Amino acid sequence: MTSSDCGPEGARAAAAAEVGAPGGRLEARRTGDGSLSLWSEDFGEAFHCGRGALAEAHAKFVAPAQLERFAPGSSLQVVDVCVGLGYNSAALLEAAADRGLAVRWWGLELDPRPLQLALADPGFRGLWRPGTVALLEQLRDQGAWHRPAAGAVPGGSRGRWWLGDARQQLAAVLAEARGQCDLVLHDAFSPGHCPQLWSMEFLAALAALLRPDGRLLTYCAAAAVRRSLQLAGLQLASIAAAGEDAADAQGQPPGAGQLWSHGTAASPQALPVLDGRGLPPARILRALGPLELEHLQTRAAEPYRDPSGRAPAAEILAKRQRAQGTSTAGSTSAWRRRWGLAP
Ligand SMILES: C[S@@+](CC[C@H](N)C(=O)[O-])C[C@H]1O[C@@H](n2cnc3c(N)ncnc32)[C@H](O)[C@@H]1O
Repeated sequence: MTSSDCGPEGARAAAAAEVGAPGGRLEARRTGDGSLSLWSEDFGEAFHCGRGALAEAHAKFVAPAQLERFAPGSSLQVVDVCVGLGYNSAALLEAAADRGLAVRWWGLELDPRPLQLALADPGFRGLWRPGTVALLEQLRDQGAWHRPAAGAVPGGSRGRWWLGDARQQLAAVLAEARGQCDLVLHDAFSPGHCPQLWSMEFLAALAALLRPDGRLLTYCAAAAVRRSLQLAGLQLASIAAAGEDAADAQGQPPGAGQLWSHGTAASPQALPVLDGRGLPPARILRALGPLELEHLQTRAAEPYRDPSGRAPAAEILAKRQRAQGTSTAGSTSAWRRRWGLAP
């Protein structure tokens, strides 16, 4: 993502890339809150929103996980799709430990280098407790960790990652965790750059990981992604953008340059959201407003398709463009004009 671009449709920069063995340049970038991020040559996109990698992990993944839902002493089953530098999981593990929750964790990642680079950065290491850094080091070195609950440190955890294309690696995670996950954190590059991980088929497979009250959380609010999640049988909520007021929550025009969503939460069961009659103190999830519901009626909602689970990005994008060309759905540019959004 470019430093100024953190839009709800998740555009994180230029030109799409094919998935293969990772090897392209990874450039270090400092984000707005001072935390380290990377830019990927292979995907032509930054790993995080320019406003802050750490801030993004908290606002878009930890806060909407609403860990206060879980009783101390219980165990969370979590899948991190696209582990990258490990921000989302590290932030979640610390928040879970604070609440005395045990965590069982599965990670999917193509490239081990982002975690290696992060752990070589003193600033990144300094963001976390020593025990969290130790877990990430075990993951880097052994591909797995195990931390038993002990004394003053409640909530043990164990996890392992599967390195490779998540489309193929997901089968192993499904074999262990189908229907058991409380949280699936989906943080792939944006759909225009990495459509492989936003296809209807891949999202349906992620949906199959969830318990009835489990949540898939993502920064992405793209209509194609939301429609595919609905087609997978999930119910949607919007992750509220910071500074939203009651008018925003009703889906009023957000105004030039303002965000209309921080992402999407999806669950087999209806999610607890604002009902429009009043705002509870923690305004984290809200119902989709008229702007977002109309978005789902436009050609932007045409899903990415990848039935083989092996198609290259260019093929998936070209197929979708053809489908949009013959679609009778509404025009996305007209929707943008109606809501005063930038073209
Ligand atoms: C936006 S970054 C993730 C950032 C990460 N969640 C964090 O907290 O730092 C996207 C990640 O997806 C990984 N990736 C790209 N294509 C993939 C694929 N087909 N399968 C698995 N991981 C993939 C990249 O290597 C990169 O680490």
